[in-house]
Amino acid sequence: MATKKKSASKSKRPAAGKVELAKGKLGVMVVGLGAVATTMIAGVEAVRQGLAKPVGSLTQMGTIRLGKRTDNKSPLIKNFVPLADLNDIVFTGWDIFKDNVYESAVHAAVLDKETLAKLKPALEKIKPMPAVFDQYYVKRLNGTHVKKGKTKRDLANQVIADIQAFKKKVDRVVMIWCGSTEIFLLPTEVHQSIKAFEKGLDNNDIGIAPSQIYAYAALSEGVPFANGAPNLTVDVPAMIELSKKNAAPICGKDFKTGQTFMKTVLAPAFKARMIGVSGWFSTNILGNRDGEVLDDPESFKTKEESKLGSLEYIFQPELYPDLYKDIYHKIRINYYPPRGDDKEAWDNIDIFGWLGYPMQIKVNFLCRDSILAAPIALDLVLFLDLAKRTPELRSIGIQEWLSFYLKSPQTREGLYPEHDLFIQSMKLKNTLRHIMGADLITHLGLEYYD
Ligand SMILES: NC(=O)c1ccc[n+]([C@@H]2O[C@H](COP(=O)([O-])OP(=O)(O)OC[C@H]3O[C@@H](n4cnc5c(N)ncnc54)[C@H](O)[C@@H]3O)[C@@H](O)[C@H]2O)c1
Repeated sequence: MATKKKSASKSKRPAAGKVELAKGKLGVMVVGLGAVATTMIAGVEAVRQGLAKPVGSLTQMGTIRLGKRTDNKSPLIKNFVPLADLNDIVFTGWDIFKDNVYESAVHAAVLDKETLAKLKPALEKIKPMPAVFDQYYVKRLNGTHVKKGKTKRDLANQVIADIQAFKKKVDRVVMIWCGSTEIFLLPTEVHQSIKAFEKGLDNNDIGIAPSQIYAYAALSEGVPFANGAPNLTVDVPAMIELSKKNAAPICGKDFKTGQTFMKTVLAPAFKARMIGVSGWFSTNILGNRDGEVLDDPESFKTKEESKLGSLEYIFQPELYPDLYKDIYHKIRINYYPPRGDDKEAWDNIDIFGWLGYPMQIKVNFLCRDSILAAPIALDLVLFLDLAKRTPELRSIGIQEWLSFYLKSPQTREGLYPEHDLFIQSMKLKNTLRHIMGADLITHLGLEYYD
């Protein structure tokens, strides 16, 4: 059923206004030009050249129903909301290695050599700027193409200068973290306010990771920031404050691609049918650079935390103790070089039904990690740019409606995240309807039987 929108008069939210059109070039600054980033950039170029379709991208292939089911009105999302056209995207980025995007894509070995050869002229033009890097935060990498600075403030200023230079070449800018998973960090004093954070930049506070230096630079420049890794990055009060202050939307954390994608489809189905779960064992083997980084226990811990949360939130054991109180949930990630980017994930799920009788489900997902992640990265970039052009969204900080794409969705303090993929999908589409002044859809549907 389609419902009339409620008035926002009592809310502190800015009044709904017209979404600005996507005029001119959209500059996309990618931190970390590795497997995911190069697969996204090469993919966009392949689509532009008509070599392939943007499969997996909701912004490019998805439709949105408007009005009643009997209205037969389902335009493409990209024709309903004003998104940047793929032909208007200009990529740049940073990496700790000097390889250009073509070389890095060859190294990542996600796309075949014939496809990459056709894209080579466009890809080799994109050369990484020197990165902000410190091996303390990513133990398994040793960067050679890095910025030098006495303080973290110096480094942040250098990234700001990179952004300002790029702004001269394009009309709007968005930043996305496709860099490695950093060690597990908890928020400390330095993350509590912009003031404390800036003091920490001057004092080289150990709590400030490189990803936060990029994020600080982006948000200071009013540039939206998406976090594709499970790193703490913008999930701290100082960054949320800066995001709101400078109307620079943020979202994170961690692209929801393979195993967690499956989990957030299956778990809601069990819960919807009141099927119990006693154990969920998830194991992964992968052999790309991400796998190598995650082989370090401190980076693995960051990933593990990100992957663990979804079941707890979906099953709500406090509401359903008989069904979900004692789940044994285990996650393993093993670096196994022969597989490269072709990750294999196994899930063994021990469930129980009527009168407690046990059953098992096995899921064996032979996926291609970056093939799944690339369209997500693209959609996040396009939707953050849309958020920046939307009066009602640009100054609210966290864009929870983008949870759909994320393993560990960032939410306002005290608000539990929605992990169920179908709730997330509804939330995303209703947000698009809302900002465009269309009726929301609740799926009640009684009016068809009046
Ligand atoms: N591939 C997936 O399905 C998937 C899913 C969810 C999350 N992720 C996350 O996305 C990120 C990228 O994954 P990937 O497979 O492309 O890994 P990757 O190792 O191929 O690429 C990461 C790149 O980031 C660079 N880098 C590291 N630290 C940097 C810094 N401080 N500044 C600039 N560059 C830096 C590395 O040199 C590397 O080129 C990882 O954190 C990963 O955990 C990936």
